[in-house]
Amino acid sequence: MSASASPDTTSTRLWHPFANMADVKNQAFLVDRAEGVWVYDQDGRQYLDATASLWYVNIGHGRREIADAVAAQMSRLDAFNVFNDYTNRPAEELAARLAALAPMDDARVFFTSGGADSIETAAKLARLYWVNRGQPQRTHLLSRGQAYHGTHGVGTSIAGIQANRDGFGEMIADTTRVSNEDPEDLRDAIERLGADRVAAFFAEPVIGAGGLIPPKPGYLEAVAKICREYDVLFVADEVICGFGRLGHWFGSQRFDLRPDLITFAKGVTSGYLPLGGVIAAGSVAEPFWTDGGRPFRHGPTYSGHPTVAAAALANLDILEREDLLGRSRELEQPLFDVLRSLTDHPAVSEARGGVGLLGAVELDAALLAEEPGLVLRAHQAIRAAGVITRPLGSALAVSPPLTITTEQVDLIGQGIRAGLDATLS
Ligand SMILES: Cc1ncc(COP(=O)(O)O)c(C=O)c1O
Repeated sequence: MSASASPDTTSTRLWHPFANMADVKNQAFLVDRAEGVWVYDQDGRQYLDATASLWYVNIGHGRREIADAVAAQMSRLDAFNVFNDYTNRPAEELAARLAALAPMDDARVFFTSGGADSIETAAKLARLYWVNRGQPQRTHLLSRGQAYHGTHGVGTSIAGIQANRDGFGEMIADTTRVSNEDPEDLRDAIERLGADRVAAFFAEPVIGAGGLIPPKPGYLEAVAKICREYDVLFVADEVICGFGRLGHWFGSQRFDLRPDLITFAKGVTSGYLPLGGVIAAGSVAEPFWTDGGRPFRHGPTYSGHPTVAAAALANLDILEREDLLGRSRELEQPLFDVLRSLTDHPAVSEARGGVGLLGAVELDAALLAEEPGLVLRAHQAIRAAGVITRPLGSALAVSPPLTITTEQVDLIGQGIRAGLDATLS
């Protein structure tokens, strides 16, 4: 098929994640090209990508610099693994750069292929860390209600979103959910299970896919302190919150947190190529990096992929040179103001946001009770009005590229309002 020909989406063989294929098979929305904050459909119609695809195109679409870096790397060393003693320059450089940026001492970086991969890696690393420390009974993994940690085995088992667990059975044992917002619930769970049985606590600085829930003031600082008190590893899942989304390299830095492990993905390459990873504090890496410890028998094939690392390095250059972290901090309030201005709409009950360049509007509960499909219908109507939002449970979320202008932030509000008007009419 040529680049310009349109596929016949009515006879598709493509199985879409999270989709009801019975609906989607006949009405897929073809994204043809993208530039900056804009994406274009097959008829050339323009839409504002208010979600940066899936929370990841932080530098905006169509940046030539990434394509050039990838092409240059591919023509020198396309791909090679970093298993055993193999290494390559881009992977080394990226690990060093991320280790220096992370809010931890003497950090080490383990690369994966994405976010859920990184959650698997962090969970296995946490459990094996305790084996190496002579406490193999420390296996329990704690996470928050409404948490989203991807859809692999561990991520499914520690998911707080019940619908994402249903039907899969117990993927891994020894997991417990605690309250989203009450740090004392974490303490209670640790006391109940026994601190000597708990390996780690996973938390997103801002809960993303679980409904866009910023932390209550003091919550993250309090759970980090409780983890320290009971010697439980604190894992910050920064898959969404990293690389400028909360106005810092890592969301943890906004709250002065010093996690034991950080999981990252998405914004590290702005999604141009798939990459994830785990950053481990030196104290966590130490038993694996000195003689006598059990080695980490774990590793996805594409760990340390040179071309993907080259894309990440070019992405970090752009984030730095254009001060997109600063821009994210500047625009978070205007974005939140726009979302709050929508609360006068009869379809909207609440706006959430104000912590980072991301937010959501919650749809009215009575309207949702009348029509469970309202969120999806509203999402489509808003898209027809020229803005791409993300349906999340009972809300519509936005997380635009960090390159967005204030005028374009206003366009998000106008598009959502027009789409909601059309939905109710
Ligand atoms: C906080 C968080 N963790 C993990 C993941 C999983 O990442 P991936 O989809 O790359 O596997 C996501 C994906 O949205 C996420 O938001």
